[in-house]
Amino acid sequence: MDALRHTFEQQLAAALPDVEITLERPKSGELGDLAFPCFRAAKQLGKNPVQLSQELAASIHIEGGALVAAGPYLNLKLAPETRAQAVLSAILEAPPGRPYGARTANGKKVIVEYSSPNIAKLFTIGHLRSTMIGHALAQVHQFLGYEVHRLNHLGDWGTQFGTLLAAYTRWAQAENPELEQDFDWAEPAPEKRRTPLFRLFQLYVRFHAEEESDPAMRDEARGWFKRLEDNDPTARALWKQFRELSLTEFQRIYDRLGVRFDTLEQGEAFYEDQLVPTMKRLTEAGLLVEGDKGARIINLEDVGIATPCLVQKGDGTSIYATRDLAAALYRKDAYGFDRCLYVVGTDQVLHFQQIFAVLNKLDAWFKGRMLHTPFGMVKLPEGKMSTRKGNVIFLEDVLDEARERVAAIIEEKNPELKDKAAVAEMLGMGAVVFFDAMNDRVKPITFTWDRVIALDGDTGPYVQYAHARIMSVLRRAGGDWAARAQAGSPMGPIVPFAVTPLPADLDGVAAPEAQALLFELAGLPSAIAAVADGCMATPLARQLVAVARSFSGYYTNCPILAPENTPEMRDARLALCVATARALRQGLFLMGIQAPDEM
Ligand code: ARG
Repeated sequence: MDALRHTFEQQLAAALPDVEITLERPKSGELGDLAFPCFRAAKQLGKNPVQLSQELAASIHIEGGALVAAGPYLNLKLAPETRAQAVLSAILEAPPGRPYGARTANGKKVIVEYSSPNIAKLFTIGHLRSTMIGHALAQVHQFLGYEVHRLNHLGDWGTQFGTLLAAYTRWAQAENPELEQDFDWAEPAPEKRRTPLFRLFQLYVRFHAEEESDPAMRDEARGWFKRLEDNDPTARALWKQFRELSLTEFQRIYDRLGVRFDTLEQGEAFYEDQLVPTMKRLTEAGLLVEGDKGARIINLEDVGIATPCLVQKGDGTSIYATRDLAAALYRKDAYGFDRCLYVVGTDQVLHFQQIFAVLNKLDAWFKGRMLHTPFGMVKLPEGKMSTRKGNVIFLEDVLDEARERVAAIIEEKNPELKDKAAVAEMLGMGAVVFFDAMNDRVKPITFTWDRVIALDGDTGPYVQYAHARIMSVLRRAGGDWAARAQAGSPMGPIVPFAVTPLPADLDGVAAPEAQALLFELAGLPSAIAAVADGCMATPLARQLVAVARSFSGYYTNCPILAPENTPEMRDARLALCVATARALRQGLFLMGIQAPDEM
């Protein structure tokens, strides 16, 4: 397809010197494979776009395709044989290290910072968005040839530790120092959460509840944070213990989600020894101003941000923003990145505007490299989730519930299935993760169980089902057909499929339904590129649904293993099945979803 696109572009460039040529994808394969919108060129030449498109249709010739003027668009529509050849070859003959849609190394470095939960809080459904959007962005950037660094800016420092230390010393240290038992003052922990981390979370919730009526407790918490920053050994030891408890728990969840980071050691606390040098740089650059009660602030009015950036509190303690500034400076030295993506909720838009503005003032190198990719918050029908108030939905509960619903369906429909438990987990995850990706990144999501773990409609399981159905056809075809769609366990973002030669005769896939499927497969590389451009997985998720849907039309209308098929016809149709299975498996994998071979 790339070669045909190139020829089309060259012909257009020859016919329209001085005009910038950009091609689009027509809405359906019936219109064509590539479209040239004539508006801009027509304006430049002082012509009518409809007329220009007709003139071009008459003057350009491309082997294997027809040029059709459709109003102001000039469409290149490939002959069925040419389209099949182009798409199937791109998928089946791709070298294993560079599958369909992947690009060669481009020498650029991207940091994707994602997930970044606060320690001592439990992983909620709210954390899923940053974690899985970030994971997909990291996967896709790597697939597109970037050198990717996956960082997690764990919230392992900050005033919330003051709260935890105060609560722990008040209510747990004497009786329950290892946090091994339930507290007598709290509801017993639900069975699957009888963990020290959950008890820490209960302490946190209690402290915030009581602090409302007893403001002196706030000073107690502040005092503990100050002790921590001043290196008090008791505060330090407890902090370390809480941090380790949390990391163990987070790692378990990341393993379950199949998400990994370069390191979990570059959280907020990591930058502690860099806070003084950071303040020094800010001072030297003449940016610091004295604010209320001895606080240090940086004014940003001159760059259109009305709220100043607070970098140090009156009591001398650092804040969230200071650690973000230190982190950015560190990353410049350690990675020298081209792009740094922060996958963080829309509630922190102002924070990142401030951070980026300060960095730009400090060092022009940062200009244009920093990008906040905000995502909408997950809300409950009754309003915002709040860890402090304890009304949250835990991510693991959602994954468990999704898995159980799938398991019940398997039990009913296919009780003989091998590896039932593993398949139920893959489908449950597929439902939850895909649901998230199908939502616009920036809009808030209202969580309801039925929507998030739905199995029908445009869902992950629908795409996974299309894949499994193809695999079942390939198994029935015998020989090594199924093996051609499989690959060894993937490492990194690339599923390493072996090169498979194309059948010589592709007449078997000339039918309109087969052509419609080929057209949707042809749309995958641009959908993957759009994930990196728009910093969201939605275009890929939608395109996978389009492929799965057109597969279903193909399967119904073009019998694959019918006894009356000639061997050539059968081979061509099976080759299209292999290509579709590979494309679905690879696409899901980029999103962090596994595709079972049977379900
Ligand atoms: N830990 C923060 C939170 O839970 C998110 C951190 C985002 N990243 C950053 N560099 N500030 O809200």
